Amino acid sequence: MVTRPPEHEIVDERARPVLDRLHAQDAAERAAGLPQEERIRALTPATGAFLYAALLALRPPLIFEAGSAVGYSTIWLALAARTYGGRVIGSEVRPERVAAANANLTEAGLQEVATVLRGDAADLVRQFDGIGFLFLDAEKDDYGRLFLAGIDRVVPGGLIVADNVISHDCREYQALVRSRPDVYTVTLAFERGLEWTIKRW
Ligand SMILES: C[S@@+](CC[C@H](N)C(=O)[O-])C[C@H]1O[C@@H](n2cnc3c(N)ncnc32)[C@H](O)[C@@H]1O
Repeated sequence: MVTRPPEHEIVDERARPVLDRLHAQDAAERAAGLPQEERIRALTPATGAFLYAALLALRPPLIFEAGSAVGYSTIWLALAARTYGGRVIGSEVRPERVAAANANLTEAGLQEVATVLRGDAADLVRQFDGIGFLFLDAEKDDYGRLFLAGIDRVVPGGLIVADNVISHDCREYQALVRSRPDVYTVTLAFERGLEWTIKRW
């Protein structure tokens, strides 16, 4: 049997207990069978570690996240951004989750790197420019709208990643990105499925 090293080994001492706590919360909520709207629906740790690794290579100065929940994914993005001086803007519609996400970022020592804003990601993304990495992790049937709101804000060569494209039916979104000549897209069968879309030069 192949044993995998734990992905959390790569993160620092302050962020690690926060990531572990939020991952445990997510697992407990799933095990209890809570309805979707009551769960934090965090990334898998392997997905967080994979995005972290991609960001170390790409080094986008500005990262925008659509759908931060309580900040589990935001912490992974911020850990990577901190290594090269980037910053992360998260977004979340539910005010109690915005507060929790920012408290979790502070507890993880990442409040200088990342902030989660309250509101619809489609409205918020339009307030920024020069986005090098756009991460879509809000409602799956809303990915198309969020992509269309953000694509003009993404720099040429920028990356747009949507999570859950295998665990959920995201065919409409996948057809949208495949229909556009200004992007190149590939579906990565990793964990819950990542749609990996590059804005062409
Ligand atoms: C799958 S969870 C995000 C999980 C988070 N990315 C993580 O891995 O920790 C989706 C979140 O998106 C939020 N959301 C839904 N629609 C949104 C929108 N239009 N703009 C911003 N947030 C939204 C939901 O309230 C929910 O907390």
